[in-house]
Formats: sequence, C-alpha cells, structure tokens
Amino acid sequence: MATTIIPQGYLLPGEPNWLTNFAKALPQGAVMVELGTYKGKSAHHLALGLKGVGGTLITVDTHLDYMDCDKFIGDQYIKALYDNRLLGTIIPIIGDFYKVRTFFKSKVDAIFFDGLHEYDNISKDFANWSPLIKDGGFAIFHDYHKGFPGVKRFVDSISEQKDQWENCGGGTSIRCFKKLR
Ligand SMILES: C[S@@+](CC[C@H](N)C(=O)[O-])C[C@H]1O[C@@H](n2cnc3c(N)ncnc32)[C@H](O)[C@@H]1O
Repeated sequence: MATTIIPQGYLLPGEPNWLTNFAKALPQGAVMVELGTYKGKSAHHLALGLKGVGGTLITVDTHLDYMDCDKFIGDQYIKALYDNRLLGTIIPIIGDFYKVRTFFKSKVDAIFFDGLHEYDNISKDFANWSPLIKDGGFAIFHDYHKGFPGVKRFVDSISEQKDQWENCGGGTSIRCFKKLR
C-alpha cells in the first residue's frame, strides 16, 4: 500500500486537524480556494476533508522559493498530490493571485487566505477575492498572532464588520468568518 507523505509547510499544532474538520463540514460538492500553498501542507489537510464531501480545492501559488525566487518548488507539490492520490480533489493553479483572479469568476464556498502577511498584502488579497465567497460561505485566515501584526490588524478589522462577517472562531492561529451578505 502507498504511504502518505505529508508535504512540508508552516502549520502550527492543531491546525492540520482543524482544516480537515472544517473542510469535512462543508456541503456536498463544495468548492474552496487556497491562496498561498507553498509546498502543500495546508492544501493536503484541507483536501482530506474535502475528499469526504466530494469537494474540490483550487490552490493558487507561484510556487517560487522564498529565499531564491529563481527556484521553482512546485514540482514537489505536484508530486505529493499524485503520490497521495489527491489530484482528483485538488486543482493546482500555478500563477500570481492577481492574474488568476482576472479570469476566476465562479462563487466558492470558502477561501483560505495564506499569502504574504503584511497588512497591505492581506487586505489586497481579501479585497480581490472575498467577493467570490457565497453568502453563507467562509473566509479563513492563517497566522493570526503577534508574530504577524499585519494579519492580526486586518483580521481584527473584519471582526468589527459584524453586519457582514460573523466570527466563527478557529484554532491556534486560524480565524474563520462566515459571510452574511
Ligand atoms: C505562508 S506561505 C503558504 C503556506 C502554506 N499554506 C502551508 O501550508 O505551508 C505563502 C505562499 O504564498 C505565495 N504567494 C504570496 N503572494 C502570492 C501572489 N501574489 N501570487 C501567488 N502566490 C503568492 C508564496 O509563493 C508562498 O508559497
């Protein structure tokens, strides 16, 4: 039997299970987008949950190395999807968030925001992509902690928009909001 190799990534303790359980609770056939995939750890755990509901995860990332932008690391990600039999659940898009957004028109059940963590980056990602979340769907943020003040400040601003976003809690550094309208 093939062994599952969990891709490397930046999740904190408790977050892999949180992501799987979140995705498992989405409606049958749910479609989710992940902005920021790196080597695929969070995508792997979301896909385990989505697989159970016949759902799809669309991941978007340039897959360039943080330290050396001339180095492409997406081959490791695609190989892990193949090895872990997740290509039926994940559709990987290799590209820039902003370019991809120009042709991405469908509404989705949830978006996981995990791109760059400065306030300006996360607010731009959210402004571009959150209109695609269905009413009743979810925006999920990663790295809400004092190590990333830009994420914390931005997520706190979403918490204040109570007429539009209902705080659904989260786990460790994950924060989840339901779109009300
Ligand atoms: C924090 S990492 C993602 C970590 C990942 N979710 C995990 O589980 O380990 C952020 C990723 O966002 C990607 N990224 C940031 N801004 C981007 C953009 N504008 N377009 C495409 N990818 C972007 C980077 O290439 C990087 O792989």
